[in-house]
This record gives sequence, structure tokens and C-alpha cells, in this order.
Amino acid sequence: MKEMNISFNLNGKNYSFSVPTNMTLLQILRETIGLTGTKKGCDKGDCGACTVLFNGVTVNSCLILAPQVDSAEITTIEGIGSVDKPHPIQKAFVEEGAVQCGFCTPGMVVSSYSLLIKNPEPTEEEIREALSGNLCRCTGYIKIFNAVKEASKEEKKIGR
Ligand code: FES
Ligand code: FES
Repeated sequence: MKEMNISFNLNGKNYSFSVPTNMTLLQILRETIGLTGTKKGCDKGDCGACTVLFNGVTVNSCLILAPQVDSAEITTIEGIGSVDKPHPIQKAFVEEGAVQCGFCTPGMVVSSYSLLIKNPEPTEEEIREALSGNLCRCTGYIKIFNAVKEASKEEKKIGR
């Protein structure tokens, strides 16, 4: 397979290397860089487990190919929060019991983060719409929606 050089910014850090042109962003993140927070579910754009921010917009990283990654700015779950420094959205997911198996959680958090940046006080309908591309087979969604509502209140309190 043909290779190409790509340069991009990931979670505030610059990367540059050669990859096969048919490699997906999801593979680059998980296999080349070793950031495994972004999950591989369906690998065909249906589940949202692989959601990342790509130039400020949520995308399914399993559908983005290496040539598109060149010059992009990418934020993954690792760029949003960590175990030591969780983002208020991550804290709210834990506190509301919105994490069961956890497989969908990074994608859910990235989509919620994107929503709250654009719309800090979303309605229930806006939360449902924003998370409509993220599938969860454990929680029944209600606790996830509640977590996003709680996170929006918390972000307001700390003035984010
Ligand atoms: S793994 Fe990308 S949408 Fe399911
Ligand atoms: S918590 Fe298991 S898929 Fe959502």
C-alpha cells in the first residue's frame, strides 16, 4: 500500500510520520500512537464509539482516512480529561451512573463536550440530538442525558 507523510496536531501536540494512505484515523490513534481511549466498535460509522473532534467538529474516526488527517487538529478523550484530572462531564457520568461497560463512554463524552462548547445550556431535546450518533447498549440513555444536564450546571458554576 502506498504511504504518505502526514502532520497533524493531536491534543495540543504536533505529530508527523508516514502511514499507509488507507489507514483510518482510528487506526492511527490506537495502533500507531497508542492512544486507546477512542474505541473501535462497528468500524463502519454506525456506533459513535470512535468519536473524536476533528477541526472542532465531531466525526467518526473510523471513517476518516490518512490523507484527510494531514494538517488537521484533533482532540480525543485523552485531550479532554484524565483519571487524575477528569473533566466535569466525566465526573458527571460517574456520579450519575451513566457508565456501565464503559465502551461507549469516550465517544459519549466527546460528543457531550462538543455540545457544551457550542451550547452551554442545552435542552433535553438538544442533548438527545447531539448524542443521537452515539449508541449505548447498557444504560438506556436516561442516565447519560442526566449526566450531560448535570455537567452543564457544573460548567456554569465554575464559569467555563
Ligand atoms: S467504530 Fe466508528 S462509528 Fe463505530
Ligand atoms: S455503557 Fe456499555 S455501551 Fe454504553
